[in-house]
Amino acid sequence: MRMRRMTKPSLIAVFSLFICWASFAGAAQRPPAAAIASAHPLATDAGFEILNAGGNAFDAAVAISAALAVVEPSGSGLGGGGFWLLHRAEDNREVMIDGRERAPLAATATMYLDANGEPVPRLSLDGALAAGIPGTPAALVHLAREYGKLPLARSLEPAIRLARDGFAIDEHYRAMIGFRITALRASPAAAAIFLHDGEVPTVGDVVRQTDLANVLEAIVHEGRAGFYAGEVADALIAGVRTAGGIWSKDDLADYKVIEREPVHGMYRGIRITSAPPPSSGGIALVTMLNVLSGYELDKLDPITQRHLIVEAMRRAYRDRAIYLGDPDFVTIPSELTEPAYASGLRSAIRTDRAMPSALLPGLPAEVTGTDTTHFSVLDEAGNRVAATLSVNLPFGAGFVPPGTGVLLNNEMDDFSTKPGAPNAYGLIGSAIDGGTQANAIAPGKRPLSSMTPTFLDDGKRVAILGTPGGSRIISMVLLASLEFARGGKPADWVSAGRYHHQFFPDRITYEPDALTAEEIAGLKKLGHTLQVSDRRYGNMQIVLWNRETNTVDAASDPRGGGGAETRATAR
Ligand code: GLY
Repeated sequence: MRMRRMTKPSLIAVFSLFICWASFAGAAQRPPAAAIASAHPLATDAGFEILNAGGNAFDAAVAISAALAVVEPSGSGLGGGGFWLLHRAEDNREVMIDGRERAPLAATATMYLDANGEPVPRLSLDGALAAGIPGTPAALVHLAREYGKLPLARSLEPAIRLARDGFAIDEHYRAMIGFRITALRASPAAAAIFLHDGEVPTVGDVVRQTDLANVLEAIVHEGRAGFYAGEVADALIAGVRTAGGIWSKDDLADYKVIEREPVHGMYRGIRITSAPPPSSGGIALVTMLNVLSGYELDKLDPITQRHLIVEAMRRAYRDRAIYLGDPDFVTIPSELTEPAYASGLRSAIRTDRAMPSALLPGLPAEVTGTDTTHFSVLDEAGNRVAATLSVNLPFGAGFVPPGTGVLLNNEMDDFSTKPGAPNAYGLIGSAIDGGTQANAIAPGKRPLSSMTPTFLDDGKRVAILGTPGGSRIISMVLLASLEFARGGKPADWVSAGRYHHQFFPDRITYEPDALTAEEIAGLKKLGHTLQVSDRRYGNMQIVLWNRETNTVDAASDPRGGGGAETRATAR
């Protein structure tokens, strides 16, 4: 990863913070039970089935990822990608498996622009041209081979069963498919699987995915070649190209999972471990917490607290727009996560007035959408997985290459197609000094993500968390991290009201119950513009291990229909 080398003072700071973090003694070494929180009870069950079969948290993560691909196709799938943040208990190894999609080798920076240089509406969102090269199948093979204890055949069993036998549609499925029905209707193979006579199915209807089960079985028998070569690859490429896409055999053959060093930071004695680029999540989270560590938030009134949190969000999302992209293509300043950099940002924050985003470089945008999935796993050896996976918008590109059952992502929309042109989440990329945007499209490049799978560890408690939600993922993980710092229970953290600022558009969006009338009035007085969100957002999944009391807890966001449980498993 091409990040600038750390300066000596920053290395010393990180080292002393780590010593401080590591000095908590007497904490339990093994949890009394395993815990899983995911967006679907059937995926949570799949994880426990694999733990009971003798698998570890990494095998369970394979089973949960594959099960979610079947039962929550709106959020993730074999046609998408994701980040699996791992903590291996035996040697404390922490690593992120980067299974993010890549741009096809024939991609160009201007592929979604018309002759006048303007983005063509929906070209990066709907259909075969919107799809990046999937990373999830390769990541599952890698995870099982490098970290698991069980054969892939066993860990994929629950997903294959669910694909063949079918699963009953729930309210979440219905709500998500409503967003994407036009795109799904345009793909006969997708419509045949996910719609009912071209319409939104009713709750309780059963979805069976025989082609997808066959692809999962090909992966069982042939490993990554079961997806990236042979008959499945031929069918994927033929389907994509017939529908106007640009995938080639080389795209699939060249796809590689990358192991990346997570981003670390400290906030009031809490060690943060989170997603590095090509996610913007970890860097933005650490930047915001560094800024906020300069305030005694709990001693401030609620209006000032929220104002300062919003000002931290504004600045981290601004840096996202300017500096962040695939680290294999752009150099990302390492200073962004340094406390000294945050001090500089903090010095320009006034406690009595909002800073208009227009006074910082950037361009206007709008926020919409919700997507993606997250799950958290802890096994009884103390291994942990925080995984956030995506096909981007609900049901991805809405396109299935015939004969594969694989719903393709529309992750290409996470690139910045043009400086200042907002993507589906209203996120923008900016080019400074007339240079190239960090998140411009290039062949083989990974689009910048907001997915923020995270571990929080204060030496006594370990939290494993994350959420879907597009651009708002990072601010949701920030708010949950601040809740963790205050104490309390995961059930309260996943339920707490949410608010968000992403630099542009220059406004705070908030859930209907997130701010009191007094807080809204107070924030307006400070110069903020506020807009109530039309619906509650996010689907956070948290597992907490309290090593002091040696108890485990798991919570699933009440906004989703997930399953969070703790269970003693056969060891
Ligand atoms: N597709 C959502 C993200 O990666 O941020």
